[in-house]
Amino acid sequence: MTQTALPGELEPFWMPFSPNREFKKEPRLIVRAEGMYLYAPDGRALIDASAGLFCVAAGHCRAEIADAVFRQLKTLDYAGSFLRTHPKAYELAGRITEYTPAPLNRVFFVNSGSEAVDTAMKMALLYHRVRGQAQRQIFISRERAYHGVNLGGVALGGMINNRRAFGTGLPVVYHMRHTALPENRMVKGQPERGAELADDLQRFCQLYGPENIAAVFVEPTAGSFGCLPPPKGYLDRLRRTCDDHGILLVFDEVICGWGRMGANFGAQAFGVTPDLMTMAKALTNGAQPMGAVAVRQSVYDAITEAAPEHGIEFFHGYTYSAHPVACAAALATIDIFAREGLIERARALSPYFIDAVHTLADLPCVHDIRSVGMLAAVELQPQATPGSRGHEAQKRLYDRGLHLKNTGDSLILAPPLVAERGHIDEIVGKLRAVLAEI
Ligand SMILES: Cc1ncc(COP(=O)(O)O)c(C=O)c1O
Repeated sequence: MTQTALPGELEPFWMPFSPNREFKKEPRLIVRAEGMYLYAPDGRALIDASAGLFCVAAGHCRAEIADAVFRQLKTLDYAGSFLRTHPKAYELAGRITEYTPAPLNRVFFVNSGSEAVDTAMKMALLYHRVRGQAQRQIFISRERAYHGVNLGGVALGGMINNRRAFGTGLPVVYHMRHTALPENRMVKGQPERGAELADDLQRFCQLYGPENIAAVFVEPTAGSFGCLPPPKGYLDRLRRTCDDHGILLVFDEVICGWGRMGANFGAQAFGVTPDLMTMAKALTNGAQPMGAVAVRQSVYDAITEAAPEHGIEFFHGYTYSAHPVACAAALATIDIFAREGLIERARALSPYFIDAVHTLADLPCVHDIRSVGMLAAVELQPQATPGSRGHEAQKRLYDRGLHLKNTGDSLILAPPLVAERGHIDEIVGKLRAVLAEI
């Protein structure tokens, strides 16, 4: 393979969510990728156990996507979507609605998961306002949730390090308890116990008045914290309470969407239909930044019909909403999903993947393993500084040829959906070798 030149100067790039000083002393770079593998500067292959950051569902460097992007750049490199737009934006919205649950048939484009979350929050506020319920300003979310890094999403989030430095002036959010019950340790798939945790929403209704609550945001399976599948019946209970009180239910499907749960979205995997649904990541296979909010038609109608005939209905949007090149990448990605049956593949491979990951349960450093669909987390016993063991494991895994995302002491596995059984064996084998050492 061709050796890619390394940068001489590492200092100017302020890396996101990274210990910059440590990294720059001992950089671990990626210079190339193909299929299931990433490549280090010295040519070493690393199997990608987390699909990049949960986005590369169809495997790396797909020629079909690259060609579509190149063609689009030469045909129409940019057209904004304020007042003008381009055909691929309509085509893509239509294609997405073939995968979302039927009532969610309107699609708003953004550039990331974080933007999708904040967009959904604004939609919820506006929806209630145009229906004469502007007092609905409270949002409900959950401990251990991750809803991106924009200020709305930070307020919704339930991970302490992402919140503590930014805590003032954020929207009012009350957090339901997370669903990681000790009695569900090492359970494969959805736990039997814990549906009653959804009654936290009832308690908030009693305490703050349901007429003041705009929306409930949950990831169908909490992903970034480290795979917390919903207890059986939990999401149904949330849905019922929302219905009883006119509260919107929003599923943040940025990780769960596009096959990760073994169905189109978490909504279908768990049989509960939300009112709004965010997505990003696998929508373009990670090849272009793009996110979207899929919306129930009744919500769209309420908002659009409240505006004057020639008036703008939603004062919101981004310069790059529905960027033509991102649309081209997403359409090529969806073609691959359809042609290669990636969602069916994920569903079929899931039991093998889950069984394989749970074989690590015998290792002394493993505290818990959680899994559903093609997502799993191996949570390590914390050492004196929580997170240090996970960080150490993640670095050693790079050196041993395995890339994964860790959040604190949770090592998160979400391989591309094109993985074969042999790839799962390789991932679990390398993980076992490193975890046996630490
Ligand atoms: C559930 C969820 N929401 C939102 C986001 C934020 O997405 P992005 O990093 O594209 O802004 C993420 C990212 O991991 C996520 O997992």
